[in-house]
Amino acid sequence: MPPLLDVTGLSKVFRLRGPNPFHRRRLTAVAAVDLVLAPGETLGVVGESGCGKSTLGRLIVGDLAPSAGTVRLARRPVSAMTRKERARLVQPIVQDPRATLDPRWRIGALLAEPLVIHGQRNGSADRVREALASVRLPPDIADRLPHQISGGQAQRLAIARALLPEPRLLVCDEALSALDAAVQADIVHLLRRVQAERDTAMLFISHDLDLVRHLSHRVAVMYLGRIVEIGPVDRIGTRQSHPYTRALIGAAPRIDPHRRRTKRATLEGETPSPIDPPPGCAFQTRCPLAIDRCRIQVPPPVRVGPGQIVHCHLAEPAGRDHPPLHRLAGD
Ligand SMILES: Nc1ncnc2c1ncn2[C@@H]1O[C@H](COP(=O)(O)OP(=O)(O)OP(=O)(O)O)[C@@H](O)[C@H]1O
Ligand SMILES: [Mg+2]
Repeated sequence: MPPLLDVTGLSKVFRLRGPNPFHRRRLTAVAAVDLVLAPGETLGVVGESGCGKSTLGRLIVGDLAPSAGTVRLARRPVSAMTRKERARLVQPIVQDPRATLDPRWRIGALLAEPLVIHGQRNGSADRVREALASVRLPPDIADRLPHQISGGQAQRLAIARALLPEPRLLVCDEALSALDAAVQADIVHLLRRVQAERDTAMLFISHDLDLVRHLSHRVAVMYLGRIVEIGPVDRIGTRQSHPYTRALIGAAPRIDPHRRRTKRATLEGETPSPIDPPPGCAFQTRCPLAIDRCRIQVPPPVRVGPGQIVHCHLAEPAGRDHPPLHRLAGD
């Protein structure tokens, strides 16, 4: 099956205004990201604050233009689509959606808007009611204005709004963080159901590792704009290969008989600035295992297990019985 989402060599460099207008500093928020996502699949995206998760999400929904690389959805470059075409395929759910809701529109009208845009006006009142019920919002909320609802209600509204056009991909950026545990469980249930019924794929960006583990089929770990490791959720949870993943997920240390003994994976030092990232491996300044090569060469992708790809010079490739692909899912 061809992938629904196909991202190749994706980078985003922001040019920052500095004291010298002739020398703008460049901040690399996303660097050389490759990934694919199958229909119905959920990819969790984790990594510390500022590592580029939201920027990656915004590039995928077409909200930002890439500095390099391409995002293809259903085989077509997102950059070549109209807003309307894009909105049918992919919908973002952002954190704190109140900022994106027009304060003068009533909730019902805000919800119906994507349907009207897509020419699905017929039966829209029923669908709005259903959508509200699906995120456990009372029907009378339709008559209220955005400032008359709570943050949690606005978040649920944003979820309902993103689901209404029945997109093939949802990009959830901390979409459940503002919700209390009971509502969160309801929404997780809803997302799962929608996914099963419509084969919707999800990019699930979150700081909540438990939630990511619970919802994702695969997990991508980002560091300084790069995906340093990606693989099936159980392998990322128990058989991490990248030293950064081990520090982030906090597994027991592993000893590699062919290399030196690994130290306990605790992170020391600060993340380097994305304005002046280190040469070679992005993680080399904090990696307890770094060797000379790490300081010079960007590590190529290494397949260390079924579907598990690591960017690390010290990673041991899996046996040759697996095809040497560094891009997952079928072409
Ligand atoms: N519009 C922008 N202009 C300049 N720099 C930006 C812009 N948006 C993001 N950045 C920078 O890009 C880097 C990645 O930011 P991003 O918001 O993608 O990180 P994140 O992983 O989503 O962080 P968090 O977990 O805090 O949400 C950061 O250094 C951030 O300051
Ligand atoms: Mg973010």
